[in-house]
Amino acid sequence: MRRKLAAGNWKMHGLGESLAQIAELAGPAASVDCDVLICPPATLIERAARAAMGSAIAIGGQDCHARETGAHTGEISAAMLRDAGATAVILGHSERRADRAEDNRAVRGKARAALAAGLMPVICLGETLEDREADNTLDIIAGQLAGSVPEDPAGKPIVIAYEPVWAIGSGLTPSPDQIARVHGFLRDRLAHRFGRSMAEATRLLYGGSVKPENAATIFAVADVDGALVGGASLTARDFAPIIAALDAA
Ligand code: 13P
Repeated sequence: MRRKLAAGNWKMHGLGESLAQIAELAGPAASVDCDVLICPPATLIERAARAAMGSAIAIGGQDCHARETGAHTGEISAAMLRDAGATAVILGHSERRADRAEDNRAVRGKARAALAAGLMPVICLGETLEDREADNTLDIIAGQLAGSVPEDPAGKPIVIAYEPVWAIGSGLTPSPDQIARVHGFLRDRLAHRFGRSMAEATRLLYGGSVKPENAATIFAVADVDGALVGGASLTARDFAPIIAALDAA
């Protein structure tokens, strides 16, 4: 019942010339039974949405403000992302949690704003290496899930991305058993809080050093409904085989 999702987070990468990668992905995205989402930097959202028009590729933002409008210089509201052509937004990425001191409460406020504006929030969580070595992974995940997901998503879809901080950009990935343990735990916690049908409908993505070489192994793990991909989403050459591996899983 869950449609698989391959999401690309371009982070602070991409100029106008990068839009050619979206055009190149249109073919691979049309031939699979998965959703494909690209989240470019804000400056490219409108052009990316235009480049993706008529294709199976959706465009998303990488952050939004919790308020609708106001005196918040440099910030972008959820409605602005939507107006530019985005249909989703990544929230609570560990880079923002670290660089911008975003806590769970801030992420929840942003997720509420995203839902109100008609955007699908992709809420990120994950443990640091220190948390994992201290065997605190599930406690950290439970706290982030409880604090970051709005109380009442009101039947609107949300996506949870499990991204261990130590796996991001490092070339390291957790073992399939470690991923299965966290994803199974996330599904149970969602069921406990929102009921089984919401938990079964919610897509759980894995993120952190997903590459064409390891994608099939990761997508074979129970309760992995797709991936949030950083570096390997920047080119169609790397992202297309990841999308194909997800489709084949
Ligand atoms: P990498 O795939 O580059 O490790 O990044 C993962 C990530 O942070 C996606 O949001």
